[in-house]
Amino acid sequence: MCGIVGYIGKRQAQPLLLGCLGRLEYRGYDSCGIAILGSSTEVYKDAVRVKELEKASPQFTGTAGIAHTRWAPHGEPSRINAHPHCDCTGKIAVVHNGVIQNYQQLRQQLTSEGHNLVSETDTEVIPHLIEKYYNGDLEKAVAAALREIEGSYAIIVSMTGEPALVVARRDSPLIIGIGDRENFIASDVPAILDHTNMVKYLEDGDIAVITPDKVIVRSGGVEIDREEHKILWSVEDAQKAGYEHFMLKEIHEQPRVIRDTLGGYISAPEPVTDLALPGTTDSKNTLILACGTSYHAALVGKYVIEQLAKTPVRAELASEFNYSGQASAGDRAIVITQSGETADALKAIKRLKDEGCRVIVITNVVGSTASRLADHIVYTRAGPEISVAATKSFIAQLIVLYWLALPYSTADVRKRGNQIRGLRQLPVKVQQVLDDDTPIMECARYLSGFDNVFFIGRGINYPVALEGALKLKEISYIHAEGYAAGELKHGPFALLGSGTPVVAIASPDNTYETMLTNIKEVKARHSPVIALAAEGDDIIGELADSVITVPQVDPIFSPVVNTVALQLLAYYTAKERDCSIDFPRNLAKSVTVE
Ligand code: AGP
Repeated sequence: MCGIVGYIGKRQAQPLLLGCLGRLEYRGYDSCGIAILGSSTEVYKDAVRVKELEKASPQFTGTAGIAHTRWAPHGEPSRINAHPHCDCTGKIAVVHNGVIQNYQQLRQQLTSEGHNLVSETDTEVIPHLIEKYYNGDLEKAVAAALREIEGSYAIIVSMTGEPALVVARRDSPLIIGIGDRENFIASDVPAILDHTNMVKYLEDGDIAVITPDKVIVRSGGVEIDREEHKILWSVEDAQKAGYEHFMLKEIHEQPRVIRDTLGGYISAPEPVTDLALPGTTDSKNTLILACGTSYHAALVGKYVIEQLAKTPVRAELASEFNYSGQASAGDRAIVITQSGETADALKAIKRLKDEGCRVIVITNVVGSTASRLADHIVYTRAGPEISVAATKSFIAQLIVLYWLALPYSTADVRKRGNQIRGLRQLPVKVQQVLDDDTPIMECARYLSGFDNVFFIGRGINYPVALEGALKLKEISYIHAEGYAAGELKHGPFALLGSGTPVVAIASPDNTYETMLTNIKEVKARHSPVIALAAEGDDIIGELADSVITVPQVDPIFSPVVNTVALQLLAYYTAKERDCSIDFPRNLAKSVTVE
């Protein structure tokens, strides 16, 4: 997820564009750049934040231009990979938000036709395709170029000597801010709210030609009128897309995040051999290492790989592994880290490599230190996660672990087909959880009055109990403990009572009956019980004080819907307690010290 902006009007474009771009850094901030249209096209870009670019960039003259702030999907953050990208003549400049699936083929074709592509990005094929088709009409050339592109895009195209900017979108957001003899283009409303609150939303397949006085939108070559909307939000509200907190916004982004993360991988049904799971090739052991929420994903990964591929997996805390863990040459190690900068995770990667292990890194940040150290990288496509409490990145990590393991499922073809279908249905199932959050709000109101809470689960949902407790701890400051349900009787029972509610995850799998017994044991010790159960469960309501219902899914996918429900429970509880949800005390988004 990147941020793009464009301006064409009567004022000097450079300061305006940089101001607008700064408002979009929540969409990505690993590199940025501008192109200003004067007598020629002047480009300045680098792997820096917008503020630094503003200081470093020469002052260009021109009343039109485009700009971009990046969250690298392809190609590390660098000056050469930053946007805008240009054609061979340097006249056509493009900024892009989205992912081009077939860019490798297009690069080969363009290179064979004599185009010189200099970056590692997918985007750079666009200006070269436009150059290929340009015959005096920029809009037509853009339309021809886009017909060759598979994937998602929102683009703004400028060209020296052209009186207009041309923009287009498919599966990426793009808005036009209508001004007085000037117009703005942006990925999102926050960018332009300082200048206008009148916007047009482009739809998929739209191409628009924008001059200072006119906006012409065509769809399928036919001119159409996109309605103008008046925006009443403040800039800050808009960055949160109208949600009160980044955390709630990021929780609601998860259906898209699952689609985007799957989008990059599931189209390749055949297992990628060099990511082959152990026991299926030469590796001896499998190790999954991580910290915090990513460690809980590692634990779910252990269950998933063991259940599907029937091969043993160790999941360990990176901070502990660094001092006492064992690994041997040839072992396969998966290190999970959202930020890619967590000190304990980086130290573990270095140690694993010293021990001769092959290291797969699952990370959300292209170009992060972890991704540089890795032997193999698998990116989650969660986009930038602003809220300290990890939510969408966790779900994206689970999706990647399912994707890694599914090709090794020992199930028969029909069952495996069902498993892949189940994975593809997860965005819809998660949307159902998000749409039905009233019962969760009620449980949160109740939970907000307590200072101690237990979360219990079994099997693949034991790590979900840990994650539910961590989310509640992090943002509501309630002392919450996640426990394997079978462990309560070995000590924590002593803490139960009317002052200590228990959240029990009772998914319809091989642990269900035992979870019902554990709930009865907890009730017998007077602890109130909030049960998390699948729709259609008409037993659990008899036992628990309240029930949070989630959609039916294949048991192996239950951690996804259960976790989303517990993220909302933590969020609404923290809201009831009036906590600073996005930036909780004493925590940092990336822990860069041991
Ligand atoms: C989770 O909400 C926390 N922000 C924290 O536990 C986090 O998961 C941990 O610091 C690991 O971060 P990483 O995934 O970026 O390595």
